[in-house]
Amino acid sequence: MKKTNLLTVILLTTLAFAISSCKEKTPVFGEAPIEKIVEELTLEEKVDLLVGIGAFSGDSIAPEIRAAKEYIPGCAGATTPIARLGIPSIQLPDGPAGLRIYPTRQGDESTYYCTAFPVATMLASTWNRELIENVGKAIGDEVKQYGADLLLAPALNIHRHPLLGRTFEYFSEDPVVSGKVTAALVNGIQSNGVGATLKHFAFNNQETNRSNNDSRMSDRTAREIYLKGFEIAVKESNPWAVMTSYNKINGRHTAENKELIEGILREEWGFQGLVMTDWGGGKNAVAMVQSGNDLIMPGNNRQKRAIIEAVNNGTLSMDDINRNVTRILQIIEKSPKFNGYEPTNAPDLKANAQIALQSAAEGMVLLKNDHNVLPLSKKIKNIALYGISSYKFLATGTGSGSVNCEYVTSLEDGLEAAGYKIDPAIASPYRKHAMQIKPREARNFMQLENIIMPESLLSQPFKLRADAIANDVAIITIGRSCGESSDREYEGNYTLTQVELKMINDVCEAFHTKGKKVVVVLNIGAPIETSNWKNKPDAIIMAGLPGQEGGFAIADILNGKITPSGKLVDTFVKNIEDIPSHKNFPVNFAELNSEKRRNREKQIKNFDYTEYQEGLQIGYRYFDEHPELISYPFGYGLSYTTFEYSNPTAKYENNELTLTLTVKNTGNYSGKEAVQIYVTAPKSELTKPVKELKSFAKTAELKPGEQEVLEFTISNYDLASYNETAGAWVTESGYYNIGFAASAQDIRQTASFNIAQEIAYPTTATLQ
Ligand code: BGC
Repeated sequence: MKKTNLLTVILLTTLAFAISSCKEKTPVFGEAPIEKIVEELTLEEKVDLLVGIGAFSGDSIAPEIRAAKEYIPGCAGATTPIARLGIPSIQLPDGPAGLRIYPTRQGDESTYYCTAFPVATMLASTWNRELIENVGKAIGDEVKQYGADLLLAPALNIHRHPLLGRTFEYFSEDPVVSGKVTAALVNGIQSNGVGATLKHFAFNNQETNRSNNDSRMSDRTAREIYLKGFEIAVKESNPWAVMTSYNKINGRHTAENKELIEGILREEWGFQGLVMTDWGGGKNAVAMVQSGNDLIMPGNNRQKRAIIEAVNNGTLSMDDINRNVTRILQIIEKSPKFNGYEPTNAPDLKANAQIALQSAAEGMVLLKNDHNVLPLSKKIKNIALYGISSYKFLATGTGSGSVNCEYVTSLEDGLEAAGYKIDPAIASPYRKHAMQIKPREARNFMQLENIIMPESLLSQPFKLRADAIANDVAIITIGRSCGESSDREYEGNYTLTQVELKMINDVCEAFHTKGKKVVVVLNIGAPIETSNWKNKPDAIIMAGLPGQEGGFAIADILNGKITPSGKLVDTFVKNIEDIPSHKNFPVNFAELNSEKRRNREKQIKNFDYTEYQEGLQIGYRYFDEHPELISYPFGYGLSYTTFEYSNPTAKYENNELTLTLTVKNTGNYSGKEAVQIYVTAPKSELTKPVKELKSFAKTAELKPGEQEVLEFTISNYDLASYNETAGAWVTESGYYNIGFAASAQDIRQTASFNIAQEIAYPTTATLQ
């Protein structure tokens, strides 16, 4: 071979080798570092990752996912797979009271039911973080066993006003309760190796015009009330993801707000995970990418084209795209899907039902118990059971916060299983009526107006007199549901209907005449009007929206198997108009919606924008100054037993406050007690609430005579208020008073401590 030929052969072989080794080096997801994968992805592939896929409703899932058989029917959304590089699609299902997927699948005989746990408000009412973490573990296990990766929950917006449609999905009027309970749930969920998503970040406090309403508030209000819970949860549980909300904050959609996402969430709080939009949230895809909202859900081709065009014309930087893609890939890399977990499709639903039962019972709140009517005396056998909800208990609210569970136990089921006899003559029309309720209607009794409620047929005085002779006690259930997309109506949802008021009145009259007692059970997800009727029945118990085991749980409380230990996480007021946010909340907005349609230029208060004029005056932070306006205070709940609080201690050392308290069961029943720690800050230039909840704990089950020492730690930072002028959280020097309390209106022991030196914690971002 000639020398030149030989050289050519050598050159060509080297080239071929180089090319082939280049090919071999195509990075594989999971093996190569993520930066290499990002380098390898084309712009189109990156944009596919940034814009997720999913279903708004029904089966309208993207065809490529359906074909890849990666989609779990009923799952809210998924990320786009990039098969070329081995990047799988991860599955993002709802929701807050348990996993929400379809229970059945076409051409498949198996079922895919999930456990309906008590709703968020009710979990918070347990005040028991250990129990809530167990609920999280159970929910996370179902997520994993059914093949999903990242749960779209918990939801922790503040209960600014009781008519908020999503109240049941959120925890409380108080940010510390919301944050600590969320952290417990997230820790439980994520212990399974699946992710949790905090939502809706932030300021989603009304459903009316939820995609465009502008929440307007000061930085102090934002940080102390509406962001605090998110801050606590991010720092105490390290969630995989955060979902931005539909609404705007001070003129800008949260998904397009860099100060909120990159500034507050990531830089100030140290959040490391993925940020996604709510479904269809935000308006400007390019602004979302720039602001660090990594994943647009479910997203569409128009948004993809806009992002590509912005890169091509130089208005969107490749660095922003790569940053967001990196964060998405980091989450996919952690997912069960990527790590080859084979779903069993067989979670232990029986074991999880037990957890649902236990948490439901512990979240129920005894509001009234005159002459210790409860627990029901052993002599009571025959029960006159009124109210359609007694026979068709509401387990959850509507919308993405609902769960497709296999069954829901009603109060009737629970009482019968506990050995009581339900009066058949009373039950029969209710049972018939309950059967007429179609599933959708069953979730919201307000839609039943055109069906004659059995209440009006049954509440005939002569009939009630006979019932009172034939039965030992009367139980009446009042049911209320609510859900996303609309806020609650005042008339008939917040207030009791005329029929319900008459039923309570007439049943009480008939039974009391015969010396028999009446118990009202509230099967509700949000506060209702109570002051008009609460003096009539002998006992009132809030059973919440307790999930699928609710009927058994309430029966266990009524018969004394379990001592109630739940406490309210919201203030129940006498008059809704006394709530400071009421002036700026869209009450019964139907008319104004049409006015808006007639006059598009005019901005409409509480529709286009909502002024959070009340500032920090949310719940007990306001009603502490006006206790006469309260029907049931924040933190309130009775027990069958009594507890004594003693030996309070407070030690402030190394910028940390440690408190202890002895709690003793001084009554006749075993029970648990939730203790709240309120702190009153020294007087300063900043106006501060009378007191603020800073910590809470619950005892174990204490037998009569038993006691437990509870310990609480509160950091200096936890005591700070936000000073806008200083642009910092500031813990001022001076004397702080502590209340060891059974409710916001029942401080049992006090202590105080001194902070010698003010400490400031500067912030960098602003929402103005
Ligand atoms: C809700 C979210 C939910 C999403 C997906 C939206 O309408 O606001 O909370 O996660 O739908 O179902």
